Amino acid sequence: MLPKFLSDKGLAPNITINPNLNYLGTETAFGFGAEVIAVENSKKFPQIFKFHVGDTGPTTPEPIIEVAIQALKNKQTKYGHFAGYPQVRENIAKYWSETRGVEIKKENILLQPGGKPVIELMFQALLAPGDKIIVQDPGYPVYESLAEFNNHGGVLRWQAHKDESPSAIAQGKILEFRVEDLEKLLVENNQVKILCLNTPQNPTGMIIGKEKLEAIAELVRKYKFFVIFDDIYDQIVFGGRKQYSFLSIPGMLDWTINLNGYSKNYAMTGWRLGFIIAPEWVIEIFGRLAINKWSNVNRMEQIVAGVIFGDVTLDGFEYKSVKDEVQAIINKDFIEYEKKGGFVSESLNLLKPYVVCNEAEGAFYLFPSFQRVLDLKYVREELKITSDVGLRDWLLYEKGIATLSGSDFGQMGAGYIRFSYAEDRNRHIIPGMKYILKVVIELIEKSGEVAPLKVEEVDERVVELERKFFT
Ligand SMILES: Cc1ncc(COP(=O)(O)O)c(C=O)c1O
Repeated sequence: MLPKFLSDKGLAPNITINPNLNYLGTETAFGFGAEVIAVENSKKFPQIFKFHVGDTGPTTPEPIIEVAIQALKNKQTKYGHFAGYPQVRENIAKYWSETRGVEIKKENILLQPGGKPVIELMFQALLAPGDKIIVQDPGYPVYESLAEFNNHGGVLRWQAHKDESPSAIAQGKILEFRVEDLEKLLVENNQVKILCLNTPQNPTGMIIGKEKLEAIAELVRKYKFFVIFDDIYDQIVFGGRKQYSFLSIPGMLDWTINLNGYSKNYAMTGWRLGFIIAPEWVIEIFGRLAINKWSNVNRMEQIVAGVIFGDVTLDGFEYKSVKDEVQAIINKDFIEYEKKGGFVSESLNLLKPYVVCNEAEGAFYLFPSFQRVLDLKYVREELKITSDVGLRDWLLYEKGIATLSGSDFGQMGAGYIRFSYAEDRNRHIIPGMKYILKVVIELIEKSGEVAPLKVEEVDERVVELERKFFT
């Protein structure tokens, strides 16, 4: 049987191909992103308000670009070290040891093209027949996609607990990953090999705090499984919170495969530059797989990867650390994310109880429930929208608002919409919020119900929030 993504496009090779392709999912942020561009180019709307992007708003800090240019001018263009030059890995190890409070050596590190490749490296290296993988639901879709592709039938979903009680709504805690639910999965299933854990999380923007991570570490000790700890948004945390690392828990370096990189913190998504921190024996396997897959991260990027944490000398050329100046730049980006997150969350909550939004804790995403909007008579009967996917499509094609549907991130995402607030505040976030509120109010009123605020009140209420968060 051909995978649907080939048959849908009428591409049907007359040969037998890998049957596991049937289980390979996708990351809608890329596919739907292309649809957004097509609608934009059609000029149907004066502007598309972009709340769908998984990319950073800011661009790469200038000092990083300068080093890259210098490296290219020095003709750093040949093959590089397959794992990352020792000095580069030492710089990363030093920073990581300091920030995580645990000794990490360069032998624990492998440089790779982006954070994402670790997901497949890990499944290829660690999974044996019959092994189970636990993924968060909702969660970053690549985990489930590649787990299914590599080990069909082995995926277990750690589903977030939904709570829309008045107190949960008031605190913005409408979803929670509960450790007791995770333990239940471990008790009921044998052979759990890997737990995929992401904090701050895509798509919810939620953080898993120290206490909960310690409880998960207890489960690791008891049931013996590996944790892929994806903290690629680790510096983007709000409200004075401090990101806590699974590596900081005594003994957990032996059980953790830490996915991190430069994409989100340093606004370097397109560069494809990331790294793994893991036990030495795991890095040995990953290194061998990496040689077979991509040989090495290019030299210019290896130099960049190093100077972000310290000095680098390569082939007689010296590249000075850009650590402090870059940190000062990105800290400003993080403050802007925090402001936008608070603004979007509170703006959407003006539509309570029709839209209920969680609190912005980190990354640059929010995951509000639109279930009550989907239940509206006008939405069901006139617009014939029956799911969050239908709502996402209608918002884009009929209103020029780009978002992602919650179901793109797992079964528990049904009824939710993912909002990214990475884009520019004045061009997308503020005017986009005003517009969305008006669109939803219209849906409520057309269904014969009383909206929590009137269309005429929107501008004023949003201006109040603008003042609260941006001045
Ligand atoms: C949770 C999570 N992990 C990993 C990645 C992949 O990061 P990279 O672009 O560095 O491969 C992303 C990108 O969106 C992400 O959201």
